[in-house]
Formats: sequence, structure tokens, C-alpha cells
Amino acid sequence: HDMDLVIRNAHCATACMTFDCDIGVKDGVIRQLGGKMSSPDEIDANGRWVLPGGIDSHVHFDQRKTHGGQNADDFYTGTVSAACGGTTTVIPFAAQHRTQSVKWAIEEYHARATGNAVIDYNFHLILSDPAHPDFTEELSEVCDAGIKSLKVFTTYPAIRLDDDALLDIFNKAKLHGCLVMVHCENSGIIDFVTQRLLDQDMTAPKYHLASRPAIAEAEAVMRICAIAELFNVPTMIVHVSSGRSLKIIDMARDNGATIFAETCTQYLTLPQSLLDQPDQEGAKGICSPPLRSAAESEALWQAVCDGTLDVVSSDHSPYRFDETGKFAHGRDVPFTRISNGLPGVELRMPLFFTHAVQTGRIDINRFVALTSANAAEIYGLSGRKGTIAVGADADLCIWDDDYRWTINNDRMHHNVDFTPYEGMEVTAWPAVTLSRGRVVARYHDFTGTRGDGQFLVADAALTRHEMTATQKELNAFGLRLSPRQ
Ligand code: URP
Ligand code: ZN
Ligand code: ZN
Ligand code: ZN
Repeated sequence: HDMDLVIRNAHCATACMTFDCDIGVKDGVIRQLGGKMSSPDEIDANGRWVLPGGIDSHVHFDQRKTHGGQNADDFYTGTVSAACGGTTTVIPFAAQHRTQSVKWAIEEYHARATGNAVIDYNFHLILSDPAHPDFTEELSEVCDAGIKSLKVFTTYPAIRLDDDALLDIFNKAKLHGCLVMVHCENSGIIDFVTQRLLDQDMTAPKYHLASRPAIAEAEAVMRICAIAELFNVPTMIVHVSSGRSLKIIDMARDNGATIFAETCTQYLTLPQSLLDQPDQEGAKGICSPPLRSAAESEALWQAVCDGTLDVVSSDHSPYRFDETGKFAHGRDVPFTRISNGLPGVELRMPLFFTHAVQTGRIDINRFVALTSANAAEIYGLSGRKGTIAVGADADLCIWDDDYRWTINNDRMHHNVDFTPYEGMEVTAWPAVTLSRGRVVARYHDFTGTRGDGQFLVADAALTRHEMTATQKELNAFGLRLSPRQ
């Protein structure tokens, strides 16, 4: 035998190509596309779509509390859930808390993932304390060890950074070839509006939406785009939830900034009416930014179709509907004290396939781009992940697009006791999911092994243009912004 596994009759799609062939896998890597091959193990795809496994580049697993409750999923349950929904790579967060060493933070999350993850992973490093005495030195070490994505927040009191700290971090990101991903919401506006809501006894979950208007997101997007342009640092605006933000991103791109934009399954598919339910049921719809109007969803769909958005992730933030999770501060609390976030790592691929491909909104190649290939490229994993090519890892999904299932939390693998998608229909599901040539899931059944996931070393992030408009403006004075080592 010249292969370990051959997938016969595959109808393949990548982000830019569609082709039919047999796929030969050896040592977990795609070795041959088409031609004569033999192997002890074969899977017949029967002419079904065979796509690169999903990359979910925004998930929270086993993350230490900064606000709210405890993540229900660790690296085992989180990655099992991912695999059962056709995701073969995840990029969760490693979080530096204030006064904490960046190196310790990374070591802590490596210890959580090693021996537990069932699919491959990298980390984004959340930075909340650039004033830590060892920060500069340790950041350099961490970046050189394969973490090329830094995450910062403009909101949440425990982790938000002011402009000085943001400038410092973007400056250092440039030096180390890192991308910066940003949660964009103006915390001043949110705090001010929230106080007025509480003063007027508007405390039910539905007022969460009122407390975080689209302009709060758009202002922070604008500020981050300005900083990104100043340093020419590749920047990801995560969980874009509004058309206003998209317009600003377009403008920054016109000025030469390398801005990437992500939205999440929930902003495309969930109604904001989820927030407006009796008792505290509305807590099941609380995430930040909030679920917005149908018109905002439509603006996001437009951006999915026209290429303004680069990535569709889940922002899987698993909180149970109990005192460990959503209600860590008690049941009968105002919306401000309910943990923010929705679970969705398992349903992201099937839901997006259902709503985007089955409806004809996008073609299969754009589906691959938005769920896998673009994330691989943006986060320095291309070559290995996000494609079907000789030399790439055999991370593949054989899709069943004749499938029908009414979503029911009982059949899901996350450690969360509800799903906000309960009762919705999906019309496609990965029949077989392979991670480096091993079958890790068949439909809803997990068939992988705890600890088989490996840490992926990321390559440096790339900018789209050598200089931005602002850099040219400063350059005309002979000023160079390049950081001091
Ligand atoms: O509401 C959300 N998205 N919670 C998770 C943390 C974050 O903001 O990404
Ligand atoms: Zn470096
Ligand atoms: Zn966020
Ligand atoms: Zn998040």
C-alpha cells in the first residue's frame, strides 16, 4: 500500500477551486490528489462535497473569569463539540490577567490544552496589562514561540485598555509580526447608558440591547482602525454586529490599513427577540455585542456575500443556565450581572451551510473561505490548514447536504445545558470529519481521542500594503514610527 487512507469519489472544494478526485492520505497529510493509489483503509465519499475542516478562530475554552461565570467547556468538551460539527482547528484564548506574567498565562493555557484537545489549536493571547515589568521581554519570547495573534478589549472593566496601552501594544505587535484582534465597544457610552437604564428600573435581559447601541461599537472600530493605520499592523475586528462598523472598516481599507472583519453565526441567524422572554429566559440571548435588528443582520449577510467580512466564527462562550454560569451573580439580577456569551462551536458550520449555501446566498468556495481558508491565512496557519492540497494536513469533512435535523441540545457535545438555537432546522451536517487523517466524528458521534490535538506554530501576520496613508503622511516629514527594540 502506498497510502494509509484513500477517500474515493470526492467532490472537493477549496476557497478558489472545485474538482473531483480521490484523496490519498499518509501520515496524516494529503499526499496525492487523483491517480492510482492503494491503502488498507478507504472511505467512499460518493460524490459528496469534501471540504477543508472548519477553523473556528474565536472560541473561549476553560478561560479564567474576568467577568461573569465560569466557562462550561474545557479543552476536551470544547474540542469534542467542535469536531462533531465539522471543525478541525480552533484558536481559543490564553488570557493575561492584570498583574500577571504573559509567559505564565501562556504556560497555564498550554497545560489546560495538552492531553485534552482532540483537534489542533493555536492561541490568541489576551493582553490586559502591558505595564507588567516583564511584559516587553516575555511578549517577545511568546511571539517567537508561535503565537502571532494578540487580543485586546476596549470594554469590560477588568481587561479594557486605554489608548496609551493600545498604542503600546500595536507598536509591539508590529515589531513581532503579530496581528491584533480587538473587541470593539466604547465602554464610556455603555456605562453611561447602562446607569440610566438601571436608574429607571429597566433591568430585564432585553435592556442589554439598549445598553450597547451600534454607535458604541462603531466608535471603537473607528479608533482601532486609526491605530491600525498608524502602525500598519494587521488587525481583526471581531464579532462585527452592525452595518455602521462595516462602513468604517471599508474606509480604513481604502486608506491602506490591513483590517480583517469577523462576524459570528448568532448575528446572522438568531433573532433579537431571544432576549425578550419571560422570567430570566432572555439570559440565553445575552452576548456582546448584542443580537441586533433584522436590518443589521441583513447588512451582515450583504457583507458575507460581497467579501467585506473575512471570517464567520462562533465566539463560543459556554455558560450554563445556572449559578456556575449565566447566573454566577444570582438569578434575580439585572442584565448587567448576567454572564455574556453564547455557545455555538458545534453548530457554526452546519448552521452557516444551511443559511448561506443551501439558500444560494454564497457558493461553496466562499463557504470554505469564510469558515476555514481565510482564518488559516490570516492567523498564519496556511499551507497546513484550510485547504485541500498535497502537503496540507488531512483535515477534511465529507458533507451530507440531504440531512435534516431539528436542533436539540440533548444531542450536542458541549457542556452547556441549553443552546440558543434549540428548535431551529439544519439541512446539512458533516457525515465524516477527519483530523490529520483520523476519523474524529461521524454525524453526531465522536470517534476521536482525548489528547490527539497538537499545538500549531503560527507564521507571522502579513500586511496588505507596505505603507498606509497615515504612514506616508508622517514619512513626508522624515518621521519613522518603527519601534525601538
Ligand atoms: O458576549 C460575549 N461575546 N462573550 C465572550 C467574551 C467576548 O466578548 O468575546
Ligand atoms: Zn519577536
Ligand atoms: Zn468579544
Ligand atoms: Zn469572544
